[in-house]
Amino acid sequence: MSIATQKNTEGTDGEAVYILAVETSCDETSVAIVKNGREVLVNLVASQIETHKAFGGVVPEVASRQHVECITLLMEQAIAESGLAPDELTAIAVTEGPGLVGALLVGIMAAKALAFALDKPLIGTHHIAGHIYANRLIGEIRYPAIALVVSGGHTEIVRMESEGCFEVMGQTRDDAVGEAYDKVARSLGFPYPGGPHVDKAAQAAESAVPLPRVWLEEGSYDFSLSGLKSAVLNLVNQSKMKSEEIDAGGIARGFQESVVEVLVGKAVRAAREFGAKQLLLCGGVAANGGLRSALAARCEAEDIPLAIPPLKYCTDNAAMIGAAAYVKWKHGEISDLYIKGEPGMSLEAWSVGQTAALS
Ligand code: KG4
Ligand code: ZN
Repeated sequence: MSIATQKNTEGTDGEAVYILAVETSCDETSVAIVKNGREVLVNLVASQIETHKAFGGVVPEVASRQHVECITLLMEQAIAESGLAPDELTAIAVTEGPGLVGALLVGIMAAKALAFALDKPLIGTHHIAGHIYANRLIGEIRYPAIALVVSGGHTEIVRMESEGCFEVMGQTRDDAVGEAYDKVARSLGFPYPGGPHVDKAAQAAESAVPLPRVWLEEGSYDFSLSGLKSAVLNLVNQSKMKSEEIDAGGIARGFQESVVEVLVGKAVRAAREFGAKQLLLCGGVAANGGLRSALAARCEAEDIPLAIPPLKYCTDNAAMIGAAAYVKWKHGEISDLYIKGEPGMSLEAWSVGQTAALS
């Protein structure tokens, strides 16, 4: 639920806008304070990876409990480290969705309590908009832009005609890229989260095991990762049954080459088709070395300006939520204190000017 107010102009004509942002959608508890949507004063991230490693993946109840344990401490620490008095904060932003509902609720309750106590506006923020706006932490975004969102839960090509306007051109029909990476990693014996291990093994391998490319119908911007993932699992199982040694490096390289070729191919085609002035890479899998270098090489060859956030802003963090929330704040779109976790929250409906769709 959201209510529109008048347009805010602070931050554009002098007065600084300080947004305290909270992110608890999955397995990182993070609190940041961001000035004018682009200058990070503080970005604290408490990762739960070590806890979830023992289970081979994120356990939702455990994630929620850990968020509860550290959220208020991180809020206090963030304010202390920023050097601001609490009353100097302009607004409180929080990831409203998508994500694990219990995990989201912890951040939302904490953010609501702070907003209420300080009498500051609350801005419910879309997690994927956050990943996209991580790019604004390194420089102005030029529109129209195309974003390639690759994370543990999402794989999307998003068209942005102007600031804060999102149109999903394509998305995965089954597994997200990060999810496929983690499952492939598990079958190859790498610990959770396996994406970085597969990336490292792929880059070190001398040759690739051939694997299919999944392009889907001509012209489609959708993705499908489950067939490729199954092809890898079949290879691993066949080797096991024959008691052969598994060529983990070759499989990792073959998998990575297939994924990267399709992601780069579709993102560049979208950038061309929609006349993008910039291609934005974002999400946890944007940390992937193979993807970063292939996309950079292709964009250079095709003269498409490319933006990739530094690694610390690719994986889940609250600074990116503060950057996205600033856009909403600028357009006078703030939330009421009734927001709750929205596990399936729509990115398009979160676009600026769509307030009615959110109510
Ligand atoms: O965006 P993110 O931090 O969380 C979600 O919103 O999902 O993404 C986490 C995902 C995990 O699946 C992790 O394995 C993957 O990003 N990842 C990578 C790499 N670094 C993180 N995947 C491939 N290569 C990497 N270097
Ligand atoms: Zn994420």
